[in-house]
Formats: sequence, C-alpha cells, structure tokens
Amino acid sequence: RFAYVDGRYIRHGDACVHIEDRGYQFADAVYEVWSVFDGRLADTQGHLDRLDRSLKSLRINAPMSRAALMVVLYEVIRRNRIKEGMVYLQVSRGVAARDHFFPAGVKPTLVITARAVDREAAAVKARMGIKVITQPDIRWGRCDIKTVGLLPNVLAKQAAKDAGASDVLFVDKDDFITEGGSANAYIVDDAGVIRTRSLKSNILAGITRAQLLKILKTTDIELREEAFTVAETLAAREVFITAATSLVMPVVEIDGHRIADGKPGPVATSLREAYIQQAT
Ligand code: PDD
Repeated sequence: RFAYVDGRYIRHGDACVHIEDRGYQFADAVYEVWSVFDGRLADTQGHLDRLDRSLKSLRINAPMSRAALMVVLYEVIRRNRIKEGMVYLQVSRGVAARDHFFPAGVKPTLVITARAVDREAAAVKARMGIKVITQPDIRWGRCDIKTVGLLPNVLAKQAAKDAGASDVLFVDKDDFITEGGSANAYIVDDAGVIRTRSLKSNILAGITRAQLLKILKTTDIELREEAFTVAETLAAREVFITAATSLVMPVVEIDGHRIADGKPGPVATSLREAYIQQAT
C-alpha cells in the first residue's frame, strides 16, 4: 500500500508527518473521505467544494490546484489498485514550533491514503440494518467544518461499540437528533415524510446527503429539512443514516428499542440502491 505525503508516494508503513505538524498538535486540519466505485471517486466535485469551504473557514491555503489534486487522488487509487474502496485526504496548516498563533510562511501538509472496501459485507450489513445508541452532542459550534477534531465522535462511537451497537445518534440539549457519529441522520415519519435536520443547525453538510436530496427530487417522496426528537425517532417508520463510508444505512434499533418491525424499511432500502446506482 502507498500513501501520498507532501509531494511523494511512500510505502504506507513508512509514511509519516513531522511531530510538530499542527494537525497532530492542535487538530488544526481538515479532511475529506470519498467512496470509490469501480476505480472512480464518487461525488468528486461535491467533496472538493466542501474541502475548499473547510480550508477557507480555517484560513488554510489550498495545498495545490484542483486539477493537480485530481491527478494525485487518482494516482493514489491506481498505486493501491483500488476498485471498490475509499480515499482519505487530510490537509493541516503545516509544521511549526508549537504556538497557538498561525505560523508565518508555513506550507500546508497534504496526506492522502486509500483502502479497499468489501462491498458484499457492506451489503449484508445494510440488509440487516444497524443498532445505534443516543449520546449527548457535546461537539463544538462549528460542526459544519470538516475538521479532524473528532474526539467527541471517537468517544461516542466507542461507547456505541462497548454497548454492542455500531454508531451513535447525537442528541442536542432540546432532545433533537443532530446527526450520527460520522453520518447524517434521517427518519421516515408516520406520514411517510423523510425528515433530516437543516444544514443551518450545526451539522456537517454531507455530500451523500446532498446527493440523496437530488435523488429524492426525482421521486414523489416528500422531504423536510426539519429537526426531529428522540421520541419521534423511536416512533418512526424508518430511521437511516448516510455517509461516504456507509452510503445509506438503515437503523433498526436505538438504545435497545426496535424501530418499527426491527427490519430495514422500503424507503431506506430503495434509496440505498438508488444512491449506489447513480454513483457507479
Ligand atoms: N464522515 N456528519 C458527520 C459528523 C460526518 O463525520 C460525516 C462523514 C457525515 C456525512 O458526510 P458525507 O456524506 O459527505 O460523507 C455527516 C466521514 C465519512 C468520516 O468521518 O469518516
């Protein structure tokens, strides 16, 4: 396996960044994750647009042009012989002696890795649906920026694993679901309307979410960008999450309570198929 680190393709096991990289010291870095289907990046432009927004929000310079970045992304895919998989990209502000202030004249550190994904195993998981637990959303107020500051997500997801579940639904102070530990969250309510929290309320603007909303415009399923409570979620016909990693994943159990009949519902199942179809 090979990783791209600051201008070079290096054996994965030997790839490293400096101990005074600000990504390491301050989580002063942003990232993106793409799904790869048949050797092609999914939703390429959407992820690159969001990367630009994240970089601008933190005032980190783009490490290279978009065209150059595309070349590197595909070179990482090629060198790792990825057909079905995912690509991870991280840009930190750079390397400098530790000091909170932005260092002058540093160049951003760019790291790209790729790995294979077992689509068949993922399909089996999607046919079963996943269990999740709720966790208080203790993250910061700028969850719209895709930074590597993911400690709350890490702790919450580990709590899920310890409880025999595979993800979390974050809950705000008013008992509304915000999003998943690394995914956006949706319910199909008792009127058959899909609801997902608005992007105005401190969640990540998922690229899979954006694509799903486009797909929904071609159907007669109604979508409302409206928050939903834990109680509404437990009483929903269906619950699902979306991300570049999990695509569309049905949720069948929350905090030990079964959702509907405890099986993935027709809406989530058909949207998963529709998403995969347009991505491949
Ligand atoms: N996470 N919300 C959060 C908090 C996320 O971390 C992610 C993605 C999403 C979904 O975004 P997208 O559809 O663009 O993948 C929503 C990535 C996959 C991760 O951290 O691994």
